[in-house]
Amino acid sequence: MTDSRITRRGMMVRAGAALCAGGLGVRAVAQDDSLVITPRQTEGPFYPRRKPADTDNDLTAFGAANQRAKGDLLTLGGRVLDSRGQPLSGARVELWHCDIHGTYHHVDASSQADQNFQGYGEMITDGEGHYRFRTIKPGLYTGRTRHIHFKVIAPGRRTLTSQMYFDTDMEQNLRDGIYRRLSGAERTAVTMKTRRTSGKTPVIEGRLNIVVA
Ligand SMILES: [Fe+2]
Repeated sequence: MTDSRITRRGMMVRAGAALCAGGLGVRAVAQDDSLVITPRQTEGPFYPRRKPADTDNDLTAFGAANQRAKGDLLTLGGRVLDSRGQPLSGARVELWHCDIHGTYHHVDASSQADQNFQGYGEMITDGEGHYRFRTIKPGLYTGRTRHIHFKVIAPGRRTLTSQMYFDTDMEQNLRDGIYRRLSGAERTAVTMKTRRTSGKTPVIEGRLNIVVA
């Protein structure tokens, strides 16, 4: 009962707190002097041709729509770091992926699109390099494993364009041509660690640190 009454802002705060408490602490990162750089992967043909009017970091609601996007709720976050583990604040993280039907938005009109799904969102990392998004688990489309596209534009650094994957989809990941191209360490660097919360409204929590050269 209470779950259905949780506000959007409340959900984001809770997700952020969970991420902070989830083992991505400064100590663990600072001791590692040689973090694996997040590998670059193709942008693909579905980066928005025109950014939508609503580009916030909650992709589950588009503009003033009252209804939520269809699909399993996914809260996604981590930190943006340099190769020495120092957090990069003020970096813009852009995220885009397909809806539950496997349809990308803001590219071509499609009758199969979930109109309540925002399709694209962006946010600026905080002082500790944190980023977070609220979205849905993407659907599948022919020829790919499930994935989420992202870009990181950090001041003074070359833009990183890549994709992230689910640790629960390893069988499909290992059949995916783009994922298979990566080394073992690079695969780990783009594979989210996920867990599904229990309760009336389960949420998938995904975590991934992004390391920018
Ligand atoms: Fe894609």
